[in-house]
Amino acid sequence: MSSSAKLILNDQECEFPIIEGSEGEIGLSIRSLRGATGAITLDPGYGNTGSCRSAITFIDGEKGILRYRGYPIEELAQSSNFVEICHLLVHEELPNAPQLAEFTNLLTRHSMLHEDMKKFFEGYPKTAHPMSILSSMISSLGTFYAEDEDSLELNIIRLISKIPTIAALSYKKAIGQPAVYPRNDLDYTSNFLHMMFAVPAEAYEVPEVVAKALDMLLILHADHEQNCSTSTARMVGSSGASLFASISAAISALSGPLHGGANQKVIEQLKMIEADGGDFQKYVNKAKDKNDDFRLMGFGHRVYKNFDPRSRILKGEADKVLENLGVDDPLLGLAKSLEEIALEDEYFIERRLYPNVDFYSGIIYRAMGIPTEMFTVMFALGRLPGWIAHWKEMNGDPETRINRPRQIYTGATERCYVAVADR
Ligand code: CMC
Repeated sequence: MSSSAKLILNDQECEFPIIEGSEGEIGLSIRSLRGATGAITLDPGYGNTGSCRSAITFIDGEKGILRYRGYPIEELAQSSNFVEICHLLVHEELPNAPQLAEFTNLLTRHSMLHEDMKKFFEGYPKTAHPMSILSSMISSLGTFYAEDEDSLELNIIRLISKIPTIAALSYKKAIGQPAVYPRNDLDYTSNFLHMMFAVPAEAYEVPEVVAKALDMLLILHADHEQNCSTSTARMVGSSGASLFASISAAISALSGPLHGGANQKVIEQLKMIEADGGDFQKYVNKAKDKNDDFRLMGFGHRVYKNFDPRSRILKGEADKVLENLGVDDPLLGLAKSLEEIALEDEYFIERRLYPNVDFYSGIIYRAMGIPTEMFTVMFALGRLPGWIAHWKEMNGDPETRINRPRQIYTGATERCYVAVADR
Protein backbone atom coordinates (compact mmCIF):
# COMPACT_ATOMS: atom_id res chain seq x y z
CA MET A 1 0.00 0.00 0.00
CA SER A 2 1.27 3.49 -0.82
CA SER A 3 2.05 5.78 2.09
CA SER A 4 0.36 8.87 0.69
CA ALA A 5 -2.57 9.97 -1.49
CA LYS A 6 -2.56 12.71 -4.11
CA LEU A 7 -5.25 15.30 -4.73
CA ILE A 8 -5.30 17.56 -7.79
CA LEU A 9 -7.29 20.75 -7.25
CA ASN A 10 -7.20 23.58 -9.82
CA ASP A 11 -4.07 22.00 -11.37
CA GLN A 12 -2.34 22.09 -8.01
CA GLU A 13 -1.15 18.70 -6.74
CA CYS A 14 -1.12 18.03 -3.00
CA GLU A 15 0.03 14.94 -1.16
CA PHE A 16 -1.51 13.65 2.06
CA PRO A 17 -0.05 10.95 4.30
CA ILE A 18 -2.01 7.72 4.80
CA ILE A 19 -2.55 6.70 8.41
CA GLU A 20 -3.03 3.00 9.17
CA GLY A 21 -4.77 1.65 12.27
CA SER A 22 -3.78 -1.52 14.15
CA GLU A 23 -6.52 -3.52 12.36
CA GLY A 24 -5.39 -2.32 8.93
CA GLU A 25 -8.08 0.36 8.44
CA ILE A 26 -6.80 3.38 6.56
CA GLY A 27 -7.39 7.14 6.62
CA LEU A 28 -5.99 10.14 4.80
CA SER A 29 -4.53 12.77 7.07
CA ILE A 30 -5.82 16.01 5.59
CA ARG A 31 -4.58 18.36 8.29
CA SER A 32 -2.63 20.40 5.72
CA LEU A 33 -5.50 20.58 3.17
CA ARG A 34 -6.84 24.03 3.91
CA GLY A 35 -3.44 25.60 4.38
CA ALA A 36 -2.20 24.16 1.09
CA THR A 37 -5.31 24.65 -1.08
CA GLY A 38 -7.79 26.93 0.74
CA ALA A 39 -10.39 24.15 0.39
CA ILE A 40 -12.10 22.18 3.13
CA THR A 41 -13.96 18.86 3.01
CA LEU A 42 -17.77 18.65 3.29
CA ASP A 43 -19.04 15.49 5.02
CA PRO A 44 -22.47 16.03 6.64
CA GLY A 45 -23.00 13.51 9.44
CA TYR A 46 -19.22 12.78 9.38
CA GLY A 47 -19.72 9.39 7.70
CA ASN A 48 -16.23 9.61 6.14
CA THR A 49 -14.49 11.65 8.79
CA GLY A 50 -12.20 10.31 11.50
CA SER A 51 -12.08 12.78 14.38
CA CYS A 52 -9.28 11.13 16.35
CA ARG A 53 -7.06 8.09 16.82
CA SER A 54 -8.46 5.84 19.54
CA ALA A 55 -7.27 2.66 21.25
CA ILE A 56 -10.53 1.87 23.06
CA THR A 57 -13.01 0.08 20.79
CA PHE A 58 -12.70 -1.61 17.42
CA ILE A 59 -15.71 -2.15 15.16
CA ASP A 60 -15.75 -3.85 11.76
CA GLY A 61 -19.26 -3.09 10.49
CA GLU A 62 -18.96 -5.39 7.48
CA LYS A 63 -18.01 -8.43 9.57
CA GLY A 64 -20.13 -7.58 12.65
CA ILE A 65 -17.07 -7.36 14.94
CA LEU A 66 -17.08 -5.37 18.19
CA ARG A 67 -14.14 -5.48 20.62
CA TYR A 68 -13.39 -3.45 23.75
CA ARG A 69 -9.61 -2.98 24.01
CA GLY A 70 -9.16 -6.10 21.89
CA TYR A 71 -11.60 -8.40 23.73
CA PRO A 72 -14.53 -9.71 21.60
CA ILE A 73 -17.93 -8.55 22.86
CA GLU A 74 -19.27 -12.13 22.76
CA GLU A 75 -16.63 -13.29 25.29
CA LEU A 76 -17.12 -10.27 27.54
CA ALA A 77 -20.93 -10.60 27.50
CA GLN A 78 -20.68 -14.29 28.33
CA SER A 79 -18.01 -14.31 31.05
CA SER A 80 -17.22 -10.84 32.39
CA ASN A 81 -19.14 -8.41 34.57
CA PHE A 82 -19.92 -4.71 34.21
CA VAL A 83 -17.58 -3.50 36.96
CA GLU A 84 -14.66 -5.29 35.25
CA ILE A 85 -15.66 -3.65 31.96
CA CYS A 86 -15.69 -0.22 33.60
CA HIS A 87 -12.12 -0.89 34.76
CA LEU A 88 -11.10 -2.18 31.32
CA LEU A 89 -12.44 0.90 29.55
CA VAL A 90 -11.44 3.58 32.03
CA HIS A 91 -8.09 2.09 33.19
CA GLU A 92 -7.18 0.39 29.90
CA GLU A 93 -6.81 -3.18 31.28
CA LEU A 94 -8.97 -5.81 32.93
CA PRO A 95 -8.32 -5.68 36.69
CA ASN A 96 -6.46 -8.40 38.57
CA ALA A 97 -8.12 -9.68 41.77
CA PRO A 98 -6.78 -7.00 44.20
CA GLN A 99 -7.47 -4.23 41.66
CA LEU A 100 -11.02 -5.49 41.18
CA ALA A 101 -11.59 -5.62 44.95
CA GLU A 102 -10.31 -2.06 45.39
CA PHE A 103 -12.28 -0.71 42.42
CA THR A 104 -15.48 -2.43 43.62
CA ASN A 105 -14.97 -1.09 47.12
CA LEU A 106 -14.55 2.47 45.82
CA LEU A 107 -17.70 2.19 43.69
CA THR A 108 -19.62 0.88 46.70
CA ARG A 109 -18.38 3.62 49.04
CA HIS A 110 -19.39 6.51 46.78
CA SER A 111 -22.89 5.48 45.76
CA MET A 112 -24.80 7.83 48.07
CA LEU A 113 -25.93 11.26 46.91
CA HIS A 114 -25.26 14.40 48.91
CA GLU A 115 -28.51 14.92 50.85
CA ASP A 116 -28.85 18.43 49.38
CA MET A 117 -28.96 16.94 45.88
CA LYS A 118 -32.13 15.10 46.82
CA LYS A 119 -33.87 18.48 47.06
CA PHE A 120 -33.40 19.01 43.32
CA PHE A 121 -35.70 16.07 42.66
CA GLU A 122 -38.52 17.83 44.51
CA GLY A 123 -38.48 20.62 41.93
CA TYR A 124 -39.01 18.51 38.82
CA PRO A 125 -42.57 18.05 37.58
CA LYS A 126 -43.97 14.54 37.90
CA THR A 127 -43.95 14.24 34.12
CA ALA A 128 -40.22 15.05 33.71
CA HIS A 129 -38.47 12.59 31.42
CA PRO A 130 -35.83 10.69 33.44
CA MET A 131 -33.18 11.44 30.77
CA SER A 132 -33.65 15.18 31.33
CA ILE A 133 -33.37 14.66 35.07
CA LEU A 134 -30.27 12.51 34.60
CA SER A 135 -28.40 15.01 32.47
CA SER A 136 -29.29 17.89 34.84
CA MET A 137 -28.25 15.92 37.91
CA ILE A 138 -24.92 14.88 36.39
CA SER A 139 -24.25 18.50 35.50
CA SER A 140 -25.17 19.42 39.08
CA LEU A 141 -22.52 17.06 40.46
CA GLY A 142 -20.08 19.72 39.29
CA THR A 143 -21.57 22.14 41.82
CA PHE A 144 -20.85 19.74 44.70
CA TYR A 145 -17.38 18.46 43.87
CA ALA A 146 -14.17 20.26 42.91
CA GLU A 147 -13.20 19.58 39.32
CA ASP A 148 -9.44 20.12 39.41
CA GLU A 149 -6.91 17.64 38.06
CA ASP A 150 -6.31 16.10 41.50
CA SER A 151 -10.00 15.22 41.84
CA LEU A 152 -10.34 13.56 38.43
CA GLU A 153 -9.94 9.91 39.46
CA LEU A 154 -12.28 10.35 42.42
CA ASN A 155 -14.82 12.15 40.22
CA ILE A 156 -14.74 9.21 37.79
CA ILE A 157 -15.57 6.89 40.69
CA ARG A 158 -18.29 9.29 41.85
CA LEU A 159 -19.86 9.32 38.40
CA ILE A 160 -19.93 5.55 37.96
CA SER A 161 -21.16 4.90 41.49
CA LYS A 162 -23.76 7.67 41.71
CA ILE A 163 -25.39 7.31 38.30
CA PRO A 164 -27.49 4.26 39.35
CA THR A 165 -28.60 6.13 42.49
CA ILE A 166 -29.68 9.17 40.45
CA ALA A 167 -31.43 6.99 37.87
CA ALA A 168 -33.35 4.98 40.48
CA LEU A 169 -34.30 8.13 42.39
CA SER A 170 -35.75 9.73 39.25
CA TYR A 171 -37.97 6.64 38.84
CA LYS A 172 -39.06 6.71 42.49
CA LYS A 173 -39.88 10.40 42.08
CA ALA A 174 -41.99 9.67 38.98
CA ILE A 175 -44.07 7.04 40.80
CA GLY A 176 -44.30 9.03 44.04
CA GLN A 177 -42.40 6.56 46.22
CA PRO A 178 -39.75 7.45 48.82
CA ALA A 179 -36.09 7.18 47.88
CA VAL A 180 -34.42 3.85 48.59
CA TYR A 181 -30.79 4.20 49.69
CA PRO A 182 -27.98 2.09 48.24
CA ARG A 183 -26.90 -1.05 50.09
CA ASN A 184 -23.18 -1.68 50.47
CA ASP A 185 -23.58 -5.46 50.62
CA LEU A 186 -24.94 -5.67 47.08
CA ASP A 187 -23.00 -5.75 43.84
CA TYR A 188 -23.28 -2.83 41.39
CA THR A 189 -26.17 -4.11 39.27
CA SER A 190 -28.15 -5.68 42.13
CA ASN A 191 -27.81 -2.44 44.07
CA PHE A 192 -29.42 -0.51 41.20
CA LEU A 193 -32.32 -3.00 41.05
CA HIS A 194 -32.70 -2.76 44.82
CA MET A 195 -32.95 1.06 44.65
CA MET A 196 -35.47 0.79 41.79
CA PHE A 197 -37.77 -1.88 43.13
CA ALA A 198 -37.46 -2.13 46.92
CA VAL A 199 -40.16 -0.39 48.96
CA PRO A 200 -39.68 0.42 52.65
CA ALA A 201 -42.78 -1.55 53.67
CA GLU A 202 -41.66 -4.87 52.15
CA ALA A 203 -38.66 -7.16 52.01
CA TYR A 204 -37.20 -7.29 48.51
CA GLU A 205 -34.68 -9.74 47.16
CA VAL A 206 -33.06 -8.96 43.84
CA PRO A 207 -33.86 -11.83 41.44
CA GLU A 208 -30.51 -13.27 40.30
CA VAL A 209 -31.71 -13.84 36.76
CA VAL A 210 -32.68 -10.16 36.44
CA ALA A 211 -29.37 -8.92 37.89
CA LYS A 212 -27.41 -11.18 35.51
CA ALA A 213 -29.37 -10.11 32.45
CA LEU A 214 -29.03 -6.43 33.34
CA ASP A 215 -25.29 -6.79 33.90
CA MET A 216 -24.96 -8.26 30.42
CA LEU A 217 -27.05 -5.46 28.90
CA LEU A 218 -24.78 -2.88 30.54
CA ILE A 219 -21.71 -4.66 29.13
CA LEU A 220 -23.20 -4.67 25.62
CA HIS A 221 -23.80 -0.92 25.79
CA ALA A 222 -20.49 0.05 27.45
CA ASP A 223 -18.75 1.54 24.43
CA HIS A 224 -19.21 1.99 20.71
CA GLU A 225 -16.33 4.19 19.53
CA GLN A 226 -17.19 7.57 17.97
CA ASN A 227 -21.02 7.43 18.16
CA CYS A 228 -23.05 10.63 18.54
CA SER A 229 -23.01 10.85 22.36
CA THR A 230 -19.35 9.83 22.71
CA SER A 231 -18.32 12.34 20.05
CA THR A 232 -20.35 14.91 22.01
CA ALA A 233 -18.44 14.10 25.21
CA ARG A 234 -15.16 14.49 23.31
CA MET A 235 -16.27 17.67 21.58
CA VAL A 236 -17.50 19.39 24.74
CA GLY A 237 -14.37 18.25 26.60
CA SER A 238 -12.10 19.52 23.82
CA SER A 239 -12.90 23.09 24.91
CA GLY A 240 -11.52 22.27 28.35
CA ALA A 241 -15.01 21.80 29.84
CA SER A 242 -15.17 19.54 32.90
CA LEU A 243 -15.88 15.82 33.02
CA PHE A 244 -19.33 16.33 34.60
CA ALA A 245 -20.28 18.95 31.97
CA SER A 246 -19.09 16.69 29.13
CA ILE A 247 -20.95 13.61 30.42
CA SER A 248 -24.11 15.64 30.96
CA ALA A 249 -23.92 16.77 27.31
CA ALA A 250 -23.37 13.17 26.19
CA ILE A 251 -26.52 12.10 28.06
CA SER A 252 -28.49 14.79 26.22
CA ALA A 253 -27.10 13.59 22.88
CA LEU A 254 -28.03 10.00 23.75
CA SER A 255 -31.65 10.93 24.47
CA GLY A 256 -32.53 11.48 20.79
CA PRO A 257 -34.71 8.84 19.05
CA LEU A 258 -32.11 8.17 16.36
CA HIS A 259 -29.58 7.27 19.08
CA GLY A 260 -30.27 5.83 22.55
CA GLY A 261 -33.86 7.10 22.58
CA ALA A 262 -34.62 4.43 19.96
CA ASN A 263 -35.06 1.68 22.59
CA GLN A 264 -38.07 3.50 24.05
CA LYS A 265 -39.44 4.16 20.56
CA VAL A 266 -39.12 0.49 19.53
CA ILE A 267 -41.50 -0.62 22.28
CA GLU A 268 -43.89 2.27 21.62
CA GLN A 269 -43.89 1.32 17.95
CA LEU A 270 -44.47 -2.39 18.63
CA LYS A 271 -47.36 -1.50 20.93
CA MET A 272 -48.81 0.74 18.23
CA ILE A 273 -48.60 -2.07 15.65
CA GLU A 274 -50.19 -4.49 18.13
CA ALA A 275 -53.02 -2.04 18.90
CA ASP A 276 -53.55 -1.59 15.17
CA GLY A 277 -54.25 -5.32 14.74
CA GLY A 278 -50.64 -6.49 14.21
CA ASP A 279 -50.47 -5.57 10.52
CA PHE A 280 -46.65 -5.55 10.15
CA GLN A 281 -46.72 -5.18 6.38
CA LYS A 282 -48.55 -1.86 6.67
CA TYR A 283 -45.72 -0.46 8.80
CA VAL A 284 -42.96 -1.96 6.66
CA ASN A 285 -44.64 -0.21 3.70
CA LYS A 286 -44.82 3.06 5.64
CA ALA A 287 -41.08 2.79 6.47
CA LYS A 288 -40.33 2.32 2.74
CA ASP A 289 -42.50 5.22 1.62
CA LYS A 290 -40.27 8.22 0.90
CA ASN A 291 -43.24 10.59 1.42
CA ASP A 292 -43.71 9.28 4.96
CA ASP A 293 -41.11 10.06 7.67
CA PHE A 294 -42.02 6.87 9.54
CA ARG A 295 -38.95 4.66 10.19
CA LEU A 296 -38.75 1.22 11.69
CA MET A 297 -37.14 2.02 15.03
CA GLY A 298 -34.38 -0.39 16.04
CA PHE A 299 -33.41 -0.95 12.39
CA GLY A 300 -30.34 0.36 10.60
CA HIS A 301 -26.94 1.51 11.73
CA ARG A 302 -24.29 3.88 10.42
CA VAL A 303 -21.52 1.29 10.89
CA TYR A 304 -23.03 -2.23 10.91
CA LYS A 305 -23.98 -3.39 7.44
CA ASN A 306 -24.49 -7.14 7.92
CA PHE A 307 -25.55 -7.57 11.50
CA ASP A 308 -25.12 -5.88 14.86
CA PRO A 309 -23.33 -8.42 17.12
CA ARG A 310 -25.03 -6.91 20.18
CA SER A 311 -28.48 -7.46 18.74
CA ARG A 312 -27.61 -11.07 17.88
CA ILE A 313 -26.67 -11.72 21.51
CA LEU A 314 -29.79 -9.92 22.76
CA LYS A 315 -32.20 -11.83 20.53
CA GLY A 316 -31.06 -15.12 22.11
CA GLU A 317 -30.99 -13.56 25.55
CA ALA A 318 -34.58 -12.23 25.23
CA ASP A 319 -35.87 -15.80 24.82
CA LYS A 320 -33.88 -17.01 27.83
CA VAL A 321 -34.75 -14.15 30.19
CA LEU A 322 -38.48 -14.25 29.40
CA GLU A 323 -38.55 -18.01 29.91
CA ASN A 324 -36.61 -17.82 33.21
CA LEU A 325 -38.90 -15.10 34.50
CA GLY A 326 -42.01 -16.89 33.26
CA VAL A 327 -42.98 -13.83 31.22
CA ASP A 328 -45.03 -14.31 28.08
CA ASP A 329 -44.74 -11.02 26.20
CA PRO A 330 -46.62 -10.87 22.89
CA LEU A 331 -44.29 -8.04 21.84
CA LEU A 332 -41.40 -10.55 21.52
CA GLY A 333 -43.32 -12.60 18.94
CA LEU A 334 -44.32 -9.38 17.21
CA ALA A 335 -40.71 -8.15 17.09
CA LYS A 336 -39.53 -11.46 15.59
CA SER A 337 -42.24 -11.38 12.91
CA LEU A 338 -41.45 -7.77 12.05
CA GLU A 339 -37.75 -8.64 11.78
CA GLU A 340 -38.53 -11.60 9.47
CA ILE A 341 -40.71 -9.52 7.15
CA ALA A 342 -38.27 -6.61 7.03
CA LEU A 343 -35.23 -8.83 6.39
CA GLU A 344 -36.89 -10.41 3.35
CA ASP A 345 -37.88 -7.07 1.90
CA GLU A 346 -35.87 -5.70 -1.04
CA TYR A 347 -35.81 -2.17 0.48
CA PHE A 348 -34.13 -3.37 3.69
CA ILE A 349 -31.84 -5.81 1.86
CA GLU A 350 -30.63 -3.16 -0.60
CA ARG A 351 -29.91 -0.65 2.17
CA ARG A 352 -28.46 -3.32 4.44
CA LEU A 353 -30.78 -2.44 7.32
CA TYR A 354 -30.66 -4.95 10.20
CA PRO A 355 -31.99 -4.89 13.77
CA ASN A 356 -29.63 -2.90 15.99
CA VAL A 357 -28.96 -3.12 19.74
CA ASP A 358 -32.16 -1.23 20.55
CA PHE A 359 -34.46 -3.70 18.81
CA TYR A 360 -34.47 -6.47 21.44
CA SER A 361 -33.12 -4.67 24.52
CA GLY A 362 -36.51 -3.08 25.32
CA ILE A 363 -38.25 -6.46 25.42
CA ILE A 364 -35.76 -7.63 28.06
CA TYR A 365 -36.08 -4.41 30.09
CA ARG A 366 -39.87 -4.82 30.00
CA ALA A 367 -39.62 -8.37 31.30
CA MET A 368 -37.46 -7.08 34.17
CA GLY A 369 -40.19 -4.60 35.10
CA ILE A 370 -38.25 -1.53 33.97
CA PRO A 371 -40.70 1.10 32.70
CA THR A 372 -40.41 2.18 29.05
CA GLU A 373 -39.42 5.77 29.92
CA MET A 374 -36.37 4.44 31.77
CA PHE A 375 -34.97 2.44 28.84
CA THR A 376 -32.69 5.19 27.55
CA VAL A 377 -31.50 5.82 31.10
CA MET A 378 -30.41 2.16 31.16
CA PHE A 379 -28.45 2.79 27.97
CA ALA A 380 -26.76 5.78 29.67
CA LEU A 381 -25.80 3.65 32.69
CA GLY A 382 -24.13 1.20 30.34
CA ARG A 383 -22.44 3.78 28.10
CA LEU A 384 -20.98 5.86 30.96
CA PRO A 385 -17.58 4.07 31.21
CA GLY A 386 -17.17 4.45 27.44
CA TRP A 387 -17.81 8.20 27.61
CA ILE A 388 -15.34 8.54 30.49
CA ALA A 389 -12.68 6.48 28.69
CA HIS A 390 -12.99 8.63 25.56
CA TRP A 391 -12.95 11.86 27.54
CA LYS A 392 -9.75 10.75 29.30
CA GLU A 393 -8.17 9.58 26.06
CA MET A 394 -9.02 12.88 24.35
CA ASN A 395 -7.50 14.87 27.22
CA GLY A 396 -4.28 12.87 27.17
CA ASP A 397 -3.86 12.95 23.38
CA PRO A 398 -1.23 15.44 22.17
CA GLU A 399 -3.12 15.64 18.85
CA THR A 400 -6.26 17.05 20.55
CA ARG A 401 -7.26 20.57 19.52
CA ILE A 402 -10.51 22.31 20.31
CA ASN A 403 -13.12 20.67 18.05
CA ARG A 404 -14.16 23.34 15.64
CA PRO A 405 -15.40 22.24 12.21
CA ARG A 406 -15.59 24.59 9.25
CA GLN A 407 -18.58 25.19 6.96
CA ILE A 408 -19.48 26.04 3.40
CA TYR A 409 -21.39 29.30 3.69
CA THR A 410 -24.58 29.44 1.58
CA GLY A 411 -26.21 32.63 2.90
CA ALA A 412 -26.57 36.12 1.41
CA THR A 413 -23.48 37.82 0.05
CA GLU A 414 -22.60 41.28 1.40
CA ARG A 415 -25.47 43.79 1.38
CA CYS A 416 -25.96 47.20 2.97
CA TYR A 417 -27.94 47.84 6.12
CA VAL A 418 -31.06 50.00 5.55
CA ALA A 419 -32.70 51.72 8.52
CA VAL A 420 -36.22 50.50 9.55
CA ALA A 421 -37.93 53.72 8.45
CA ASP A 422 -36.80 53.18 4.83
CA ARG A 423 -37.57 49.45 4.69
N1 CMC B 1 -36.41 2.47 8.57
C1 CMC B 1 -36.57 2.76 7.24
N2 CMC B 1 -35.59 3.21 6.44
C2 CMC B 1 -34.38 3.41 6.99
C3 CMC B 1 -34.12 3.13 8.36
C4 CMC B 1 -35.18 2.65 9.14
N3 CMC B 1 -35.01 2.38 10.44
N4 CMC B 1 -32.84 3.40 8.63
C5 CMC B 1 -32.29 3.85 7.48
N5 CMC B 1 -33.22 3.84 6.49
C6 CMC B 1 -33.00 4.19 5.07
C7 CMC B 1 -32.89 5.70 4.88
O1 CMC B 1 -34.15 6.28 4.59
C8 CMC B 1 -31.93 5.79 3.73
O2 CMC B 1 -32.64 5.48 2.56
P1 CMC B 1 -32.24 6.20 1.15
O3 CMC B 1 -30.83 5.76 0.86
O4 CMC B 1 -33.25 5.71 0.19
O5 CMC B 1 -32.35 7.68 1.40
C9 CMC B 1 -30.96 4.64 3.97
O6 CMC B 1 -31.72 3.67 4.72
C10 CMC B 1 -29.70 5.02 4.76
O7 CMC B 1 -30.14 5.62 5.98
P2 CMC B 1 -29.46 6.89 6.66
O8 CMC B 1 -30.47 7.59 7.48
O9 CMC B 1 -28.73 7.69 5.61
O10 CMC B 1 -28.38 6.17 7.55
P3 CMC B 1 -27.58 6.82 8.74
O11 CMC B 1 -26.32 6.06 8.86
O12 CMC B 1 -27.48 8.30 8.57
O13 CMC B 1 -28.52 6.60 10.04
C11 CMC B 1 -29.64 5.48 11.79
C12 CMC B 1 -28.40 5.52 10.88
C13 CMC B 1 -29.39 4.47 12.90
C14 CMC B 1 -29.83 6.86 12.45
C15 CMC B 1 -30.89 5.10 10.96
O14 CMC B 1 -30.73 3.80 10.43
C16 CMC B 1 -32.19 5.18 11.77
O15 CMC B 1 -32.80 6.25 11.82
N6 CMC B 1 -32.64 4.05 12.41
C17 CMC B 1 -33.80 4.09 13.27
C18 CMC B 1 -33.42 4.65 14.63
C19 CMC B 1 -32.59 3.66 15.44
O16 CMC B 1 -32.92 2.49 15.56
N7 CMC B 1 -31.52 4.18 16.08
C20 CMC B 1 -30.64 3.37 16.95
C21 CMC B 1 -29.27 3.19 16.39
S1 CMC B 1 -28.31 1.90 17.20
C22 CMC B 1 -28.07 2.44 18.81
C23 CMC B 1 -27.20 3.64 18.92
O17 CMC B 1 -25.99 3.54 18.66
O18 CMC B 1 -27.70 4.69 19.25
